[in-house]
Amino acid sequence: MNFADELVQWYHQNKRDLPWRHTRDPYVIWLSEIILQQTRVEQGLPYFNRFLERYATIEDFANASEDEILKLWQGLGYYSRGRNMLKTARLIQQQYHGKFPSAYNELIKLKGIGDYTAAAISSFAANEAHAVLDGNVFRVLARYFGINEPINSTNGKKIFKQLADEVLNRDEPGLHNQAMMEFGAMLCKPKNPACGICPVRLGCKAFKTNATMQLPVKLKTVKIKERFFNYFLIFNEGKILMNKRTDGDIWTGLYDLPLIETKELLSVQDILLLPETMQYFGQDAQIDEVFGLQKFLLTHQRLTIRFIRLKNTPVEHKASWVYINTEDWGKLALPKVIFIFLSNFFKFENNSLFF
Ligand code: ADE
Repeated sequence: MNFADELVQWYHQNKRDLPWRHTRDPYVIWLSEIILQQTRVEQGLPYFNRFLERYATIEDFANASEDEILKLWQGLGYYSRGRNMLKTARLIQQQYHGKFPSAYNELIKLKGIGDYTAAAISSFAANEAHAVLDGNVFRVLARYFGINEPINSTNGKKIFKQLADEVLNRDEPGLHNQAMMEFGAMLCKPKNPACGICPVRLGCKAFKTNATMQLPVKLKTVKIKERFFNYFLIFNEGKILMNKRTDGDIWTGLYDLPLIETKELLSVQDILLLPETMQYFGQDAQIDEVFGLQKFLLTHQRLTIRFIRLKNTPVEHKASWVYINTEDWGKLALPKVIFIFLSNFFKFENNSLFF
């Protein structure tokens, strides 16, 4: 049996029973694949179930508001995935009469769908012969065939694409793709690969040369950017001042709090002396309480966050700011770090009212 057939046999015996493996509906497969990008199955599964329950069809999805989609997406990260899905759903509703395409050549034109997602949907929904290449597949191929070329170099991408196409089972591309990904996720894992029970270890170059942990090779590209977020907590007549984030940065469309960002860590006193702070919060801004510092790691950014509670209200109001009833903030889509902070803050506030 060849390498790919072995993996399919392994898959039949070991696969997880996952809901998107019981459908050929390209809408449902699309939903699962976008949610699962950069996300583990255990984390993505409850989101998939909630989305499908709320939006059973592409029409239901297309009729949602961006705020609703972002709220349901809350906690998953990479929020542009959700916003792009809404744009795509609306386009399909309007220009494809609500019929979600299943052909690679159609899928690849859509916003938020790249080579991986188009290959996944077209192979699972229509059995088109396109090999998927995700992190799992890169790892399996790099190890089995002993490829040292970085998976994210131009040459590496070409080599892996060609290899993935060569090993693809053209009679059953959907099954083949699921098997490759599942094998990478469950057995040929990044940290503790289960080589002892691997059905293809005797043919595996990395196993034979003891190079499993060195493969795959990846070029380090982007540096982690340090950012310092100074959030202001401002209350007025039972309302909290919040900010709807605009385009061009992390968390677009989500709600956070009035923010002064700095390039370095400053003392709270120095924050109050910045021209931008004085412009919005006045020359005599009065600090009530300070919470933080806390670190929050994103893929390419490290945020250092503190929350400064002010006694006064702003002297100038930014267009993106909005007062929200303190009972209603939880209805908004919030970055995880804001959600956690406000949850704790209000729990403590409410308790201190009681005791
Ligand atoms: N990750 C991405 N796509 C997947 C799928 N179809 N099944 C399991 N994990 C996945």
